[in-house]
Amino acid sequence: MSEQAEKLAAVRAACESCQRCALGATRTNLVFGTGSPDARLMFVGEAPGEREDATGIPFVGAAGQLLDRYLFAVGIPRDDVYIANILKCRPPRNRDPLPEEEDACIEHLRAQVRIIRPKLLVCLGRISAQRLIKPDFRITREHGVWFSRGAFEMCAVYHPSALLRDPSKREDMLEDMRAIAEKYRALN
Ligand code: URA
Repeated sequence: MSEQAEKLAAVRAACESCQRCALGATRTNLVFGTGSPDARLMFVGEAPGEREDATGIPFVGAAGQLLDRYLFAVGIPRDDVYIANILKCRPPRNRDPLPEEEDACIEHLRAQVRIIRPKLLVCLGRISAQRLIKPDFRITREHGVWFSRGAFEMCAVYHPSALLRDPSKREDMLEDMRAIAEKYRALN
């Protein structure tokens, strides 16, 4: 196991018993994150849904399958990136995360980012972008725009669930994902 994989496993082990917020009592599985421990590209969604809670793996439900299609379309293997969420436990009935849940959970994500040290961090949807990029982030206006954050660059794209609800956004998503893939390949 690489040093990064070992460090991530230690953070994960600490997370497994986390009861920092009330969601610790209702989760079926912790949804820590998956992918390459030294990924240069990291995606951060909002919170696990039903399938994710059942499996412990992020983005495996309908939204995740759509994300997989975009990754495939732009030639980014899912195994090469790292995928996590703002919250590691599922909110009841998939409601939006509460600010106190985000506050309780964000240190786990920060630890993941410190270990993985991605060059590009892509927020999936408004909730992630408002937490990680800026509180007044407007997804319709600012999706695909890059923000420099010291060691890495960040942008946000539409959440795949939003694309399931409103297919008219899919063209924009493809354009953003193509730009992300181009930037990713330019790192190599
Ligand atoms: N939506 C998210 O934001 N994250 C998941 O893991 C699944 C659906």
